[in-house]
Amino acid sequence: MIRLKYMSSRPAEPTAPGRSPGAAVAPAAPELDVKEFCRICGKFATGVMVATVVGRDGAPHGITVNSFTSVSLDPMLVLFCVDNRARILGHFLAGGSFALNVLSERQEQLSRRFARSDVDRFESVDWQPGRTGAPLLRDTIGWLECQLSQTVAAGDHTILIGRPIKGGWREGRPLVYFGSAYCGVE
Ligand SMILES: Cc1cc2nc3c(=O)[nH]c(=O)nc-3n(C[C@H](O)[C@H](O)[C@H](O)COP(=O)(O)O)c2cc1C
Repeated sequence: MIRLKYMSSRPAEPTAPGRSPGAAVAPAAPELDVKEFCRICGKFATGVMVATVVGRDGAPHGITVNSFTSVSLDPMLVLFCVDNRARILGHFLAGGSFALNVLSERQEQLSRRFARSDVDRFESVDWQPGRTGAPLLRDTIGWLECQLSQTVAAGDHTILIGRPIKGGWREGRPLVYFGSAYCGVE
């Protein structure tokens, strides 16, 4: 059995309420608020990735995400979601391809770094360009290089769907995010 091991925590950061989808039927009034919604979603333990892209400026860009899902096997498809306010979104939309880097339990600092707005995220970070040019970070436990196949507007986020064209993995334990805290597995 895999047991979660808490490593550190940060306070929950509720996000602003999103727009409701443009459905024809009026949505039922929710019986929970955004804070409670975030708490419940936080019960779903995830891995942590850094999604990377070469920007319109030719520079590497990256963002910490845990919204990854594998979607389809035939064809192979994956998705992750990006906040419409994130500065990197325009680079993903323009880029045509991106990479997803699966962080190991030893890479909590990378997760924190790629979620910060006040630093040069790639400074002192070891990486190399993959086949598409998107940055592959060193010592991750998995990576996928994808071509952007579709985008879907969804409330205050955009869903990016990608078609993996190359990838790899190595042994190692994942960085886990659970209840707004970083965990490892024992
Ligand atoms: C563990 C973790 C997971 C995150 N997952 C996502 C995500 O899936 N999508 C997203 O848009 N932001 C996610 N964020 C927040 C972004 O990393 C952060 O808000 C963003 O990098 C800020 O970018 P900006 O400076 O361009 O606004 C996550 C943050 C952390 C710490």
